[in-house]
Amino acid sequence: MTSNDLEKFDKMKTAGNLAARTLDLITQYIKPGITTSDIDKLGYEFIKDHGGHSAPLFYRGFNKSLCTSLNNVVCHGIPGNKILNEGDILNVDVTAIVDNHYGDTSRMFVLGKTSVKAKNLIETTYDAMMRAIKILKPGVKLGDIGYEIQSFVEENGFSVVKDFCGHGISTTFHEQPNILHYGKKNTGMELIPGMTFTIEPMINSGKYEVKVLEDGWTAVTKDKSLSAQFEHTVGITENGYEIFTESAKGYNKPPYL
Ligand code: MF3
Ligand code: CO
Ligand code: CO
Repeated sequence: MTSNDLEKFDKMKTAGNLAARTLDLITQYIKPGITTSDIDKLGYEFIKDHGGHSAPLFYRGFNKSLCTSLNNVVCHGIPGNKILNEGDILNVDVTAIVDNHYGDTSRMFVLGKTSVKAKNLIETTYDAMMRAIKILKPGVKLGDIGYEIQSFVEENGFSVVKDFCGHGISTTFHEQPNILHYGKKNTGMELIPGMTFTIEPMINSGKYEVKVLEDGWTAVTKDKSLSAQFEHTVGITENGYEIFTESAKGYNKPPYL
């Protein structure tokens, strides 16, 4: 890697770490009775108080600091007055900017007790993301990432959303290449050291189709089935990968004890 790459990795680690710490912080507050805009405020304050700012705020007209995607919402849910209830499942997606570099990460949260199906969906989604991350190294192709996720998810009886994907990320929020969460082995661009991107599979318990609501952001499952997502920002090293958005508290997937 070049010295520019090393500097970029350092800065993205700082931004990624702040995004991960934001999720760590809000974890204790996510209980029945809280609203998604309460979560948004907590995230906004924490990021601002720790030397960063939220990337979603004012991004293409988005007017909140993070995304909250509840139950059948696939991604880009807008925080609001909605009160969370026992049994709900929620994705919170945080993107922090520090020193002009981005860190983008999301996790699922479970409100109290939920169904076995929802728990399986969440487990499968987390495991799919981690399986894809674990194969990362120079020479691996983008199609290998998609294959790893899609084959595992479909074996488990769930489906991969096709309308949204991971993305290159560094000093801009969304850049090339697109990281599809489905695909064929040994196809697509080869990974090289210094590349930085997200892996963020959205997995539905029913069919893969989604639609975007009137607000222009909220993506929901067409069949109203549940959807789950996790996201990490990663960098490709000489021999493998680095995760920039790991939880220092070990809050990887629910339950967060
Ligand atoms: N964080 C989302 C992603 O993973 C993007 C959110 S854009 C927003 O790419 F405007 F909806 F916040
Ligand atoms: Co992303
Ligand atoms: Co994100």
